[in-house]
Amino acid sequence: MTETTQASGTHAPEATDTTAQHAPTGPVVFPQDRTCPYAPPPAYDPLREAGRPVSRIEIFDGTPVWMVTGLAEARALLADQRLSSARERPEFPVFTKRLVGVERRKIALLGVDDPEHNVQRRKLIPGFTLKRTNALRPAIQETVDRLLDAMEEGPERRADLVSAFALPVPSMVICALLGVPYEDHEYFEEQSRRLLRGPRREDVEGARDSLDAYLGELVERKRAGGEKSGLPVGLLDDMIEVFDDERELIDLAQILLIAGHETTANMIALGTFTLLEHPEQLARFRENPDGVTEACEELLRFLSIADGMSRLATEDIEIAGVTIRAGDCVVLSTSLINRDPEVFEAPDALDLGRSERHLAFGFGIHQCLGQNLARAEMEIALGTLFRRLPGLRLAVPAAEVPHKPGDTIQGLTELPVAW
Ligand code: HEM
Repeated sequence: MTETTQASGTHAPEATDTTAQHAPTGPVVFPQDRTCPYAPPPAYDPLREAGRPVSRIEIFDGTPVWMVTGLAEARALLADQRLSSARERPEFPVFTKRLVGVERRKIALLGVDDPEHNVQRRKLIPGFTLKRTNALRPAIQETVDRLLDAMEEGPERRADLVSAFALPVPSMVICALLGVPYEDHEYFEEQSRRLLRGPRREDVEGARDSLDAYLGELVERKRAGGEKSGLPVGLLDDMIEVFDDERELIDLAQILLIAGHETTANMIALGTFTLLEHPEQLARFRENPDGVTEACEELLRFLSIADGMSRLATEDIEIAGVTIRAGDCVVLSTSLINRDPEVFEAPDALDLGRSERHLAFGFGIHQCLGQNLARAEMEIALGTLFRRLPGLRLAVPAAEVPHKPGDTIQGLTELPVAW
C-alpha cells in the first residue's frame, strides 16, 4: 500500500522567493521554489501536464532554455559529448539574479569536459570506491551513535535535527575522509551557506575566496608538516601528491568539502521529515531494517534534492522531436525526471519497495563521485535514528518547517523534533 503525495502539496510555506514567478499563462520559468519541500514546484505542473520530455522554457531574465523532464531523454543527453559543462563560457546563462555579475571561473571536475575531466576524475576515484566507503561504515556508525547519545543526554527530549544530527554527520565524515580539522566546521559550514544561498553577489564571491584561502593554507601546512603538523591525515594528503596544478587542487578540495556535507545533510533532514509525513511508509521502514538500502534509493528519487543540472550544446542535437541548437542551454530537472510517468508507476507516491533506477545522482561522466559515501551515510543515519528514537515526531506543524529556496540544493534549514 502506498500513500499519495500531490505534486502541488502545501505542507510548508513558500520559501523566500529569490526566483522569478511563473505567470499562469506565460512560459514556465526555471528555477522555482517548492511549496512542499519534497515535491516538485507546482509552477512546473504545466510541463507535467503537457507530457513532453523536452520543452522550451525561460529563466528569470527571459532567456529561453530547454527543460528536460523525461528520464530516457535525460540519460541520452547526459551521455552526449555534444553537451558541455564548462560554466565559465560566456554563453552559459546565469540562472538566478543573485549570481548576476559573479566572476566566472573555470570549475574543476564538475565544470570541465572530457578528456580533461577524465584525467581529474581518475585521480579521485580511488578515494570513493565502494570498498573504500564500506570501510568507513564503522566510523560513520560511531559518529551517528555519538550524536544521538548527545541528543538523548540533553535536558529536553527535543532538538533541531538539522544542527544536532543531519549536518554534523556528513560534516564530521567528510572532515575525517579528507583530513580537514572538524574544529573548523562552523567556519566552512557558514561559508558554504554563503556560497550556495548568500543573497548577494559579494556573499558568493567572498565565500569562494575565503574558502580558497583557508584550503590553500591547510595544504601549505600539510606540505610543511606532514603528520607532525598535528592535522588529520586523509584524501587531501593523497591529492596533494597527485595534483600538480595548485588551482585545480584547491578547487577540488572546495568541491569535495562542500558537496560532502551540504548534500547528504539535506537528504538526512528532508528524508526524516518525509518519513514522518508518511506514517505507513515509516512503519514499513521500521519493520524491515534489511530494506534500508532500497528505502534510501526511493527517498533519493522522491526528494531529488539536486533539482537542476545544466549543460550547453556545442552542436545541434535532435531529440524527442526537437532540435537543440548549438549555443542553447539545457536544464535537467531531477524532480520531474524522477517522476517520469513513463518509468515510475504512481510517481507522486512514496513507495519504499520500488526498484526502478532514478537519476538523483546524475548520469554519464559527471555522475556523483560521492554517491557510495552518501548512501552509506544516509542508510546508517536514518536507520539508526528511527531505531533509537521510536517516538520521533515533528515538534511544530509540518507547514512551519522552513525549507530552502528553489535555486539551490533542496532541503530544510531547521527541523524541530521531539521524541
Ligand atoms: C545524497 C547526496 C548527494 C546528491 C543527491 C548528489 C548529487 C549529485 C549530482 C546530481 C551530481 C551531478 C551534477 C551534474 O552532472 O551536473 C553530482 C556530482 C558530484 N558530486 Fe554529488 N551528490 C551527493 C553527495 C555527494 C557527496 C557526499 C560528495 C563528496 C564526498 C559528492 C561529490 C560530488 C562530486 C565531486 C561531483 C562531480 C563529479 C564529476 O563532475 O565528475 N556528492 N552529485
